[in-house]
Amino acid sequence: MSLKAIYAGSFDPITNGHIDIIDRALHIFDTVYVSVIDNLDKQPLFTINERIDFISNSVASEKIKVEGFQGLLVNYAREKKIFKLIRGLRAVSDFDYEFQMSLTNRAQEPRIDTVFLMTDQKYSYLSSSIVRQLAKLNGNIDDYVSDYVRNKLKEKFNG
Ligand code: COA
Repeated sequence: MSLKAIYAGSFDPITNGHIDIIDRALHIFDTVYVSVIDNLDKQPLFTINERIDFISNSVASEKIKVEGFQGLLVNYAREKKIFKLIRGLRAVSDFDYEFQMSLTNRAQEPRIDTVFLMTDQKYSYLSSSIVRQLAKLNGNIDDYVSDYVRNKLKEKFNG
């Protein structure tokens, strides 16, 4: 039986911290759907198609599938018939929110379970908004994103 999981997020843009979680998930699951949320409450810097393109060009594995989704994550999970969600934990401060989301998702759909993976320590303080801010202000983001994403961020902010 093929084990599948969904790793959902805004990925605006994907960082090396996200890639670290995907790599870890691929040691457990046969296929990981990296699912990019379309209808964000946050105003994204990059369009859904750009965010999908960045992931496809940053993670080279036939075991990942990248796609967009809208609405409730549990509805998307039901459509795909995949009831394992991956979440990365960076620090203890992530836990409260993750706990709340995990239990809410399970209350909506009892078949859902969330698998938590610890991010590598070197990414424990990283977020997409930190990367966006550094890129905008010409900071060094070499260690935080793929070369592909770094170039796209440069194009975005420097024209
Ligand atoms: N490495 C680096 N950064 C990480 C990270 C990691 N391992 N894990 C999380 N982050 C960053 C993200 O990039 C994001 O950064 P930003 O806020 O600066 O953009 C931040 O931490 C928060 O990440 P996350 O909690 O994953 O939020 P998200 O916006 O990426 O994704 C969804 C949240 C899409 C999974 C969630 O909102 C959802 O399921 N929405 C659908 C609607 C729904 O079902 N709601 C009910 C849920 S209970």
